[in-house]
Amino acid sequence: MFAGGGAVTLAGNPVNHGPQTFNPLIRKLSMSVPSDLPVWQSLKAHHAAIADLHLRDLFAADPDRFARFSRRFGDLLVDFSKQRVTGETLGLLIELARQAQLPTWIGRMFDGEMINHTERRSVLHVALRNRSNRPILVNGEDVMPGVNAVLEHMRKFADQIRRGKWRGQTGKRIRDVVNIGIGGSDLGPKMICEALEPYGDPTLRMHFVSNVDGAHISHVLAECDPESTLFIIASKTFTTQETMTNAHTARAWLVKELGDESAVAKHFVAVSTNAAGVSKFGIDTANMFEFWDWVGGRYSLWSAIGLPIVVYLGMDHFTELLDGAHAMDEHFRTAPLEENLPALLGLLGVWYIDFFGADSHVMLVYDDYLRSLPDYLQQLDMESNGKSIDRDGQAVRVNTGPILWGSLGNNGQHAYYQLLHQGTHLVPADFLAPAQSPNPIGEHHPILLANCLAQAEAMMVGKTEAQARADLEKQGLSGEALEKLLPYKIFPGNRPSTSLFYRRLTPQVLGSLIALYEHKVFVQGVIWNINSFDQWGVELGKQLANAILPELKGDRSASGHDASTLGLIRFCRDED
Ligand code: F6P
Repeated sequence: MFAGGGAVTLAGNPVNHGPQTFNPLIRKLSMSVPSDLPVWQSLKAHHAAIADLHLRDLFAADPDRFARFSRRFGDLLVDFSKQRVTGETLGLLIELARQAQLPTWIGRMFDGEMINHTERRSVLHVALRNRSNRPILVNGEDVMPGVNAVLEHMRKFADQIRRGKWRGQTGKRIRDVVNIGIGGSDLGPKMICEALEPYGDPTLRMHFVSNVDGAHISHVLAECDPESTLFIIASKTFTTQETMTNAHTARAWLVKELGDESAVAKHFVAVSTNAAGVSKFGIDTANMFEFWDWVGGRYSLWSAIGLPIVVYLGMDHFTELLDGAHAMDEHFRTAPLEENLPALLGLLGVWYIDFFGADSHVMLVYDDYLRSLPDYLQQLDMESNGKSIDRDGQAVRVNTGPILWGSLGNNGQHAYYQLLHQGTHLVPADFLAPAQSPNPIGEHHPILLANCLAQAEAMMVGKTEAQARADLEKQGLSGEALEKLLPYKIFPGNRPSTSLFYRRLTPQVLGSLIALYEHKVFVQGVIWNINSFDQWGVELGKQLANAILPELKGDRSASGHDASTLGLIRFCRDED
């Protein structure tokens, strides 16, 4: 931990780099099976006892429920009073966190221990926003000077672009910035640039190209003037097929349009951990912004991967974003579990997934600026906790990460909310909304907020048979006609949600919010005894795609596939 301002050490980091040699300390600490923890059975019994309680009744019985089950964090209000919990539930869930040794795992992450054991890496996105600058050691070396040097490199570069000092090959100012990346090298910066648009430089147009479908880059290039376009090639590995394909297409376009190979130096920069790959592509490593293997792709927006954010918003606003995340880090590291927001949200998720059998979680976002948040959180949550092998190499015996989905809530109301209100699935929801809008046009914002509040209320209270009957009678229905329609008009309610409201979507608030979700995911990984920081499940598809590509191009005849894949390859090649 960041104890007493002194250096933190990488205790227990083994020297052996053999692929299957796990850190013995971590092995000792894994409590293996969560369902073997004594409190798991208590939670099961407690679930059976309270599963039929209705939130309506819980609110009626406790006038202080909102105060008891909501917390403030600066300008953020987290209200989980509409969750199907009692004081006893929370007590048991917190005991679960204790028995799973959550506080110890939090310490291990912040101490830079190699908790990503399958990739033999520390997990230190918290160092990227360690505004206290206290030393954090990895392999005996303090990472903070390197973090600060890259931030300074980013600041200088972004200032040059924003002040018109860095110009294109023909002397024009940069007006279009195209980030080429995918997954964590796309979703985070894209989401933040959209979210903080009111703070952005209005003279810059930001584009994010991720999809290898040629339609994506073609559309973006059609909007750009090569003389005033900057490409940021963002890839931790600098080997990702989609990103490299798009990068080569962009490079060929620029060279063709400007008729000069040397133009690449003025129009391409890279963000990567792979200097050799960047150099091979033809980008001067002086224009490369580095980061480190202890930054996971989906946790990387705080690193040089945030370069488009710094270019668009300026370093001061990026620093505020880091400040907000750091404040949440400090809260997560030091707050008691009862007050600890990431712990509470993580535990509530476990409660529904493992005790109520919920298999998905929906993000209902009443903030147009956060329209890409569900996509961002989808990678964060599902790539982190979509695992079925635990830290000890054993198959998990409980359900792990949820299917995370969602969109702008107001649009969703007219699409999928029917299922949320009256479907057969229990889908816990997060409602997000700003109390104040940066666009106070007419009644838009009160209408937006009214809808958000109403939906959370409707999901919770529902509509009883008696209420539905009274409504129908008011509409003049009676007798058989009323009885026939009545069942369709009942809303069971008792659909749980957390409301995360904030005063305004400032960089600081957004930083705290994202860090809250990052740590929530980590909390759940600890409870389930899984490694939230690897992603082996993405490998197989990549390998098979590499095998199929030459077959599709006709460089090799298709063979060794199942009949379905072969049939589809032949269809694509127009061979049947
Ligand atoms: O394929 C998944 C993944 O490895 C993600 O974890 C990562 O964010 C993304 O691909 C992009 O990787 P890179 O930054 O190395 O191009």
